[in-house]
Amino acid sequence: MTAPETPAFLAACRRQSVPHTPIWIMRQAGRYLPEYRQLRSKVSFEELTRRPDLAAEVTLQPLRRFELDAAILFSDIMTPLQGMGVELEFAPGPVVRQPIRTEAQIDALPQLVPERDVPFVLESIRLIRPNLPRGAPLIGFAGGPFTLLCYLVCGKPSKEFGAARSFLYAQPEAAERLLDKLADAMTAYLRAQAAAGAQALMLFESWAGLLAPREFERFALRAVRRTMAGLRGTGVPLIYYVNQGSALMESVSDLDVDVIGVDWRSPLGAVRRILGPGKAVQGNLDPAALFASSAELKRHAATVLEQAGPLPGHIFNLGHGIWPETDPAAVARLVDFVHERTSGSGLRKAAS
Ligand code: CP3
Repeated sequence: MTAPETPAFLAACRRQSVPHTPIWIMRQAGRYLPEYRQLRSKVSFEELTRRPDLAAEVTLQPLRRFELDAAILFSDIMTPLQGMGVELEFAPGPVVRQPIRTEAQIDALPQLVPERDVPFVLESIRLIRPNLPRGAPLIGFAGGPFTLLCYLVCGKPSKEFGAARSFLYAQPEAAERLLDKLADAMTAYLRAQAAAGAQALMLFESWAGLLAPREFERFALRAVRRTMAGLRGTGVPLIYYVNQGSALMESVSDLDVDVIGVDWRSPLGAVRRILGPGKAVQGNLDPAALFASSAELKRHAATVLEQAGPLPGHIFNLGHGIWPETDPAAVARLVDFVHERTSGSGLRKAAS
């Protein structure tokens, strides 16, 4: 009797042997795909996220086009905050109507009850699961509490998120209270996603790299630990993506997650040495490399694979989200190259 084969993506998350290095692409559902743009020309982004039939369709679009090893739920990191009553628009980045700056506003934020406040997200997951091609697993996600704080306090996308960072120094206790609330809300949100069928859970910490190491530990990482502590019981792999995190890898090495997502600025070999054998890594091709010639793109992808090394526990990805200007043909070439280069190679270690 043979058990059904574990999908390569889930095996790699658990640092088990894989038939090939799995690959998916951050922001793989979106504006670089003509089929997304076509749907989006008729429907607002928000409606796409709120209508389970459309969210499911958009989630599946990239998996129909490319041999991707995982799907990621089509939604946004701000969607659960809307469920908590935060009014915002996507223009196209999130713009919050009343940025959060006072203790009274923090106290007034309600706890998130996913089944009541964002039922459409859970319904989307239930619709996607039976329709995934090739047994590809579905990744559920949320924003890291500090990254959410950045948008809530600044009110809009920003290069430096100065208002958010000065808030940490000016009102540290209030910042901690806000982060605790967001951490608990994201625990409830991600638990509900797993219960609805998400097979891995990822926290996007897009703006962690703005913080000094001590502030990263005190604010961002403390809140992440709080969120993750509530997720172990789900039994699904946990992924923490830290953008611009090269100076923070030591700090995250003892975080209780399975996978660390790495941006393109640090070589994966060095990152793996810091993280140690207990963590898988996800990444980390520069999204700009998709603009190289076909031969050069392969060379850059091969460098990422070499850096990841022969040990199990590498999920190929970009170091940050794919750019809207990217040619889908380059994505196809990348996915096929990663599969061809790693199939039947030394990665087929003794089954664990
Ligand atoms: O394919 C996927 O990865 C799933 C969908 C997804 C979206 N946003 C859809 C989206 C995911 C995982 C996100 C996460 C997200 N959202 C992050 C973390 C990842 C990262 O890139 O750092 C952040 C910081 C946001 C906030 C956000 N939402 C921004 C900055 C923007 C605007 C511009 C952009 O980068 O696309 C959005 C809007 C948004 N979220 C779009 C999409 C497809 C564009 C909306 C449109 O069609 O107009």
